[in-house]
Amino acid sequence: MEGPICALLRGSPPQIALPRGAAPVQPRRFLLAIRACITRSRQRRSPHRSLPPNHPPAAPGIPRAARPGQLHAGGEGGGAAGRGARPRAGPGEVGAAWRGGCGLICSIQQWDSDEPIPRSELLAGVAGKHGLLCLLSDRIDKEVLDAAGSNLKIISTLSAGFDHLALEEIKKRGIRVGYTPDILTDATAELSVALLLATCRRLPESVEEVKNGGWTTWKPLWMCGYGLSDSTVGIIGLGRIGQAVARRLKPFGVKKFLYTGSRPKPESAVEFQADFVPLAKLAEESDFVVVTCSLTPDTKGMCNKDFFSRMKKTSVFINTSRGAVVNQEDLYQALVSGQIAAAGLDVATPEPLPTDHPLLSLKNCVILPHIGSATYATRSAMAVLSANNLLAGLKGESMPSELQL
Ligand code: NDP
Ligand code: DGY
Repeated sequence: MEGPICALLRGSPPQIALPRGAAPVQPRRFLLAIRACITRSRQRRSPHRSLPPNHPPAAPGIPRAARPGQLHAGGEGGGAAGRGARPRAGPGEVGAAWRGGCGLICSIQQWDSDEPIPRSELLAGVAGKHGLLCLLSDRIDKEVLDAAGSNLKIISTLSAGFDHLALEEIKKRGIRVGYTPDILTDATAELSVALLLATCRRLPESVEEVKNGGWTTWKPLWMCGYGLSDSTVGIIGLGRIGQAVARRLKPFGVKKFLYTGSRPKPESAVEFQADFVPLAKLAEESDFVVVTCSLTPDTKGMCNKDFFSRMKKTSVFINTSRGAVVNQEDLYQALVSGQIAAAGLDVATPEPLPTDHPLLSLKNCVILPHIGSATYATRSAMAVLSANNLLAGLKGESMPSELQL
């Protein structure tokens, strides 16, 4: 995600803040997506405008009536306070107001930059607000909650993961939380499979060899890797994404699926005839380990020296959950010593991984910059859902996707 979303809601009307850049080729699209769910109720009254022909197709739920850079105001009672204004504000400014069918829903305070909101700006901006729309890179802890004060009632995160939220503290304060599961499952599973194939068939390394002259001729054992056919795949966390990964890997000829978690899930496992096994057995028997669990105190550092030492030397390790599930020093040693064959990571600790990090020096480690859900359609859907969660919460209604605390 380029640039944070920070929604800060206060007073009457409440205020929120939005990100500027969400999609690299259409920076306003994310705003458009968020605005869309608010304007939906007044589409019948609003004159539709045509988008430029080269405009990306609207994601589900995004009206094509709104034009990037314009606040689509209207509805009962006339224009919003920000009518005709750009829906962006400078950092810390109140940028616009949103009206629903029956009147003003909230006013908006936007962190208008592609760079993450500095902690000091977040702490200052959140004071007195009713709601907060945040990214997974915004750590919402006691300090932020204290800074917000007792007005804060809704936190909406643009993510399926919620390990950046201090849930105990949030629950204690009676704050409701919205998040964006399900709609990103397909994109993340697809990326997990792409990363697995890129890693086990050594694609980045092979591309590099073509470019640097390492490709001299066809050689029988050159650039050989490991294939999925007849393999055993172990999935750590057979949740939404874990199942979607298994569903996509099955047609590659996987012989056996194993999974681990806090309890057996026969209803989910039946589709893959997957066996529930302890973590150690999964490590020992899998040719491919795919980590798709959530980050919790139990899963933190779960893939450590002991885990890697149980894996086969020919096995491939993939993580698309959270970096902290893996002890990276232990992973580095396992890769350098040949304890495991290769690793593919979409997530790391910290993010971004410093460019001089030892893992980046390894040919058998493929690292992506946390792009699991990064398709235009998915990110737009996430934007719509997170805005709808926020607005529903503000109105005291049930959220489309509320985290049960
Ligand atoms: P789900 O809640 O559907 O799945 C989480 C899974 O984690 C559950 O199956 C759960 O199993 C498992 N789990 C919990 N505790 C343990 C444990 N101790 N050992 C093994 N497994 C455990 O979430 P999603 O599938 O939607 O998302 C999973 C995670 O993926 C998110 O929390 C997020 O961190 C990450 N994510 C990453 C993305 C990316 O861009 N790379 C994109 C989207 C999400 P059980 O039910 O048995 O407890
Ligand atoms: C999430 O949603 O938790 C991902 O990490 C980013 O989409």
